[in-house]
Amino acid sequence: MKTILQLDSSIFSDGGQSSTLASELVAQLRGHGAEVIRRDLARDPVPHLDAERFAAFISSKEKRTSGQEQLVAYSDGLVAELKRADVIVLGLPMYNFGLPSTLKAYFDHVARAGVTFKYTDKGAVGLLGGKKAYVFAARGGLYQGTPRDTQTGYVRDFLAFLGITDVQFVYAEGLAISEASKTRSLAAARNALRALVQPETIAA
Ligand SMILES: Cc1cc2nc3c(=O)[nH]c(=O)nc-3n(C[C@H](O)[C@H](O)[C@H](O)COP(=O)(O)O)c2cc1C
Repeated sequence: MKTILQLDSSIFSDGGQSSTLASELVAQLRGHGAEVIRRDLARDPVPHLDAERFAAFISSKEKRTSGQEQLVAYSDGLVAELKRADVIVLGLPMYNFGLPSTLKAYFDHVARAGVTFKYTDKGAVGLLGGKKAYVFAARGGLYQGTPRDTQTGYVRDFLAFLGITDVQFVYAEGLAISEASKTRSLAAARNALRALVQPETIAA
């Protein structure tokens, strides 16, 4: 059975457009027998990375204080969830021209040298290969394919850094332009979403 990690980052939790689309894909995959882990970064925010946390992440196991052990254990929990997932479904709203700060904080907790990536002679190599990711990008304006799309390249690069290179984006854009634009865009995103659920996606 496949394991899906649904990772939502809308400040509106279930009510966000990105989370709604992510949930619709997950419902279809779940209908085919997948196990689902859901992490809602609005309900359960990950703290910002700071010097103390980073020092704990890079500390050697034998020398950790009990405080550092707790910080590492929290990050390890997030990493374990990510490692368990065969499929990652990410809800990605655009806020103030970038990704939600909660998602950045999550990324900062799962990018761990020696755990999710490693340094080699040829540079960094991701350790989370073999996964598939779907990203539902919801935006008030129109950015896809333009230099003002600050999210697609960044998220693709970040996931690739961890070894997750099979990534498919679905866009719901123009949501704040007009009701007609919103309706059209959400309908197109749902069409794209339905096309994603192919037999190979859901095969156990
Ligand atoms: C605080 C805030 C900031 C926003 N900033 C932008 C922006 O910079 N560009 C944009 O196109 N839309 C912006 N929007 C609109 C959101 O991208 C849009 O509402 C989208 O549906 C958000 O995803 P969600 O519904 O999953 O939360 C913003 C919305 C909020 C609430």
